Amino acid sequence: MTTSRRQFFGRAAAVSAGVALTSPLEEAVAAPENDSGVVEVAFKVNGERRKLGVDPRVTLLDALRERLQLTGTKKGCDRGQCGACTVHVDDRRVLSCLTLAVTVQGKEVTTIEGIADGGELHSVQRAFIENDGFQCGFCTSGQIMSAVKVVEEREVRTDDQIREAMSGNICRCGAYPNILAAIKQVKES
Ligand code: FES
Ligand code: FES
Repeated sequence: MTTSRRQFFGRAAAVSAGVALTSPLEEAVAAPENDSGVVEVAFKVNGERRKLGVDPRVTLLDALRERLQLTGTKKGCDRGQCGACTVHVDDRRVLSCLTLAVTVQGKEVTTIEGIADGGELHSVQRAFIENDGFQCGFCTSGQIMSAVKVVEEREVRTDDQIREAMSGNICRCGAYPNILAAIKQVKES
């Protein structure tokens, strides 16, 4: 079910009036807002607590890149079509260009900068290197963030299932066969 613009603003008004609502977006809108319309958002990024004052229209992608200098997350299309901006929010992969920063209030965000364990690369990062899973590298952080979740999905097994699960991540360089090989290597290890 989709939420119309009118329903959205109606619910936001209800939040302002103190009516209890429960969806994440509504909870986020309930975050403290000062006179200039800036909303305080507190969340964890790569295990670290962060607090930002943001315009409610700012995307998570812009907050990460421009406010927190986490530029490993890339802006490709900025409209949900390429997957370059993929990050994890509470363990689910999301497109940060389609996610308002205010909706991650109280959540855990993981970016490409946060998946290595100290100096030790994540197994998916290693597999991308070993299988030449990139050329220009622009799509690569998004591909890796998606792939980290795909290797955890037990129901995704065959080549076609992996391709389907990764279909939201576009690679203009066409590194798809090597990306598939990298994911299979980690799944089979
Ligand atoms: S930048 Fe988000 S999907 Fe393309
Ligand atoms: S490696 Fe260049 S866009 Fe994917």
